[in-house]
Amino acid sequence: MKVMTVLGTRPEIIKMSPVVRACREAGVPHVLVHTGQHYSYELDEAIFRDLELAPADVNLHIGSRPDGDQIRGILAKTVAIIERERPDVVVVQGDTNSALGGALAAVKTATPLAHVEAGLRSYDRTMPEEINRRQIDHVADFLFAPTRIARDTLLTEGVDGTSIVMSGNTVVDELERLQGDVPDSELLAKHGLRRRRFALATVHRRENVENEERLRGILAGIASTAIELELPVVAALHPRTVKKIDELGIAIDAKHVRVVPPLGYREFLALHANAALMLTDSGGLQEEACCLGVPCVTLRDNTERPESIAVGASTLAGARERAIVERARELYDRPRTWPNPFGDGHAGRRIVEQLERLLAR
Ligand code: UD1
Repeated sequence: MKVMTVLGTRPEIIKMSPVVRACREAGVPHVLVHTGQHYSYELDEAIFRDLELAPADVNLHIGSRPDGDQIRGILAKTVAIIERERPDVVVVQGDTNSALGGALAAVKTATPLAHVEAGLRSYDRTMPEEINRRQIDHVADFLFAPTRIARDTLLTEGVDGTSIVMSGNTVVDELERLQGDVPDSELLAKHGLRRRRFALATVHRRENVENEERLRGILAGIASTAIELELPVVAALHPRTVKKIDELGIAIDAKHVRVVPPLGYREFLALHANAALMLTDSGGLQEEACCLGVPCVTLRDNTERPESIAVGASTLAGARERAIVERARELYDRPRTWPNPFGDGHAGRRIVEQLERLLAR
């Protein structure tokens, strides 16, 4: 079996890392294609280094462009790579434009397609990621659902049950591998923070950043949470968010909210594990917070990760200042003893083993 993985953004690098590693450990030939959707040092090279992943074999340098152009460019260039490399299976993860472009390239070259993190649904068709993940799920040959809910969703939508494997989420593999790697006390001292006496925040979703009212509401909510709960907030902001804040001339209350660039994965994980609260609109951080026992205030109106809400680890707070503070207060007072619904830390190995079995059918 020869595997080709196609990825392009920070979260895909993190969540594909266990699959790439499992291929290497099993001696499975593997080609890593990076679309170049994320190209900033912090969102790309720094993450590869941090995870000790070898650089991609091919980089398509697609960069930032409108969705249609981005997907079309990735599709065309990936088709050419598939024709050259002739993999037995193409693997994509999640719901980005890179994942969709890679998936379509597999379909157009009649190469079997595997989707890691299949079956997630926010049921919000205004999100580009929702449209991407639905399309990928319905053209994939092999679907790796992270949880029972995701698997049941696929079955409800008529996906053939024999092509679905419940694998667990690969992020759990990465968390277990890397947790405890960075010495907590040194790191907290470096940032001037105390364990469980600070909150972390991230904001990057298009529907939040490109909508002034939502962006202002979220930033005000984060600042008021810091003040009212007496928790300094470290906000690690995506480049697009920083750009928008500057454009709109929004002032950040620097006494309570410290804005930092995207951090390395290990450093961010170590801070996260010590935080009292996470405030985020990220999909992946809802999962990570839940696994790390950190309550998560989700800065969205819906989520494709209902597992985290069901176990009491997270709540939807939307983008209004007062709702964010109130949800933060409720979660802050809650015991952190929920079970981890996202997997057992062996998803990468399971995915590679099951790929061999499914391809042999
Ligand atoms: C993409 C994914 C999203 C994922 C996120 C993680 C899609 C549709 N969305 O969103 O699901 O959660 O990645 O970060 O694929 N930019 C930089 N440097 C970079 C990359 C982007 O400065 O390395 C800026 C550019 O101004 C760009 C903007 O961020 O226009 C948005 O980037 P884009 O790749 O379109 O989507 P993300 O918001 O990163």
